[in-house]
Amino acid sequence: MKFLIPAAAGTALAFAAMASTASAQDCTFDKKAVDFEQADIDALYACVKDKLAAGYAKEGHEIGSVYRDWQATSTGPAAPGPHGDRFLFTYANDVGYAQYVKYADEGGFAMPVGSVLAKESYKLSKKGKPRNGPLFIMTKVDAGEADEFGNWVYSAVQPNGKNMKIKQSFCHDCHAAFADQDSLGYPDVDVRFSGD
Ligand code: HEC
Repeated sequence: MKFLIPAAAGTALAFAAMASTASAQDCTFDKKAVDFEQADIDALYACVKDKLAAGYAKEGHEIGSVYRDWQATSTGPAAPGPHGDRFLFTYANDVGYAQYVKYADEGGFAMPVGSVLAKESYKLSKKGKPRNGPLFIMTKVDAGEADEFGNWVYSAVQPNGKNMKIKQSFCHDCHAAFADQDSLGYPDVDVRFSGD
């Protein structure tokens, strides 16, 4: 505040006061993630949005630096359920978007080859501060290239933009459970587009 001149001091103080009451405006949250309401979810995303994308893009990762030009696959990030601790928000590239947002679950379909899904993740620390998590990625490849993993290639980017080493089987063992959804988990039903 050393730059304040007396005449402007009152106004500046009024501004400072407004900023600190505008809730979670210092980005500290005093609720548990499971108790979040929509306004909290939005406020938290406003806190992390720019830093998340900047972090994933920092090392020029081929997906981490472009996925924000794609379309979001839900109305917004989903809050973690009782068993999860991460907030998640998935983007799809042009190849995969239309099929993905059908959230098809009756089998008999495959996402187009070249579809890429990128899922942002972040959580709250014990002190209620945002912590950026990895960007999780699935890329649909030609039949024969990754048969044992449903022709998906899994990858991830750390919040600092570095490539994250992962095991295909670790990711796919869980995703394979979504057998009638081409291995897709889809966003939480609360945030899916309604389709009308
Ligand atoms: C314990 C189960 C589990 C494991 C392990 C897991 N996932 Fe997922 N994944 C899910 C579920 C459930 C969803 C859908 C929930 C959501 O995104 O809100 C999901 C969603 C995704 C999505 C968004 C596309 C979709 O499926 O709808 C991507 C991308 C993704 N996971 C990548 C990965 C990667 C990469 C790994 C390995 C590092 C991984 N996952 C490991 C359960 C898992």
